[in-house]
Amino acid sequence: MNLSPATAFPRHLAIIMDGNGRWATQRSLPRTEGHRAGAETARRIVQECLDLGLEFLTLYAFSRENWNRPAQEVGFLFDLLVQFISRELPDLEKRGVRLRILGEEQNLPFAARRTLAHARARTARGERMELNLALNYSGREEIVRACRLYLEAGGAPAGLTPETLGEYLYTAGQPDPDLIIRTSGELRTSNFLLFQAAYSELYFTDTLWPDFTPLDLRAAIADFQARGRRFGAVSEPSF
Ligand code: FPP
Repeated sequence: MNLSPATAFPRHLAIIMDGNGRWATQRSLPRTEGHRAGAETARRIVQECLDLGLEFLTLYAFSRENWNRPAQEVGFLFDLLVQFISRELPDLEKRGVRLRILGEEQNLPFAARRTLAHARARTARGERMELNLALNYSGREEIVRACRLYLEAGGAPAGLTPETLGEYLYTAGQPDPDLIIRTSGELRTSNFLLFQAAYSELYFTDTLWPDFTPLDLRAAIADFQARGRRFGAVSEPSF
């Protein structure tokens, strides 16, 4: 599928990677196999986003609510993350990716924190695409945290505007997501980028994340390109 270069291309794409468990259950496999397949999809989609020239990609890898899963599954997800980062790091570095973490890192397992810190340092000079991994992330907590940081920095309550608040979010300095994709047929955003998603276009697909292909990504972007974004304004000036 050829994407139109003439129509607005998203600068920032965010993805809620959902359906790993169902994918595995459909195949009578343990849920962990779904996550393994999901990590492979994440790898392919990162590569495709680089090929397409996307500037910012956010992947929702672990929500704060995901701690409620069985300890064995949580442990597996973080082991997978460490493997994923360690394996992909040379390529990410080579392709000019800069890694950023959205979420509370201090509560993550030590091996994950160490791997993420190393990867962040190694990719710090990447200028081609910023890859945000949302880990132990909660949109509500992010907003509360930003308000606290603003006040702790001596900000006056009256000076708190959407713009100043944005400077205290994990995504400070980045454009808001133009497009948010959620796989697996669930029609909600699950505490993801609550503040930043104010004008994001939403795209829902029944495809389970492990089955989501680069072609599916292009279809989502083509759908985005066919939409008229007005940001609250009228479509045609009436005077
Ligand atoms: C949702 O599927 C997915 C997650 C909670 C974790 C996302 C993790 C990955 C895609 C793999 C690791 C990613 C990286 C970047 C290494 P689910 O388990 O909620 O599926 P279900 O709703 O069908 O149960």
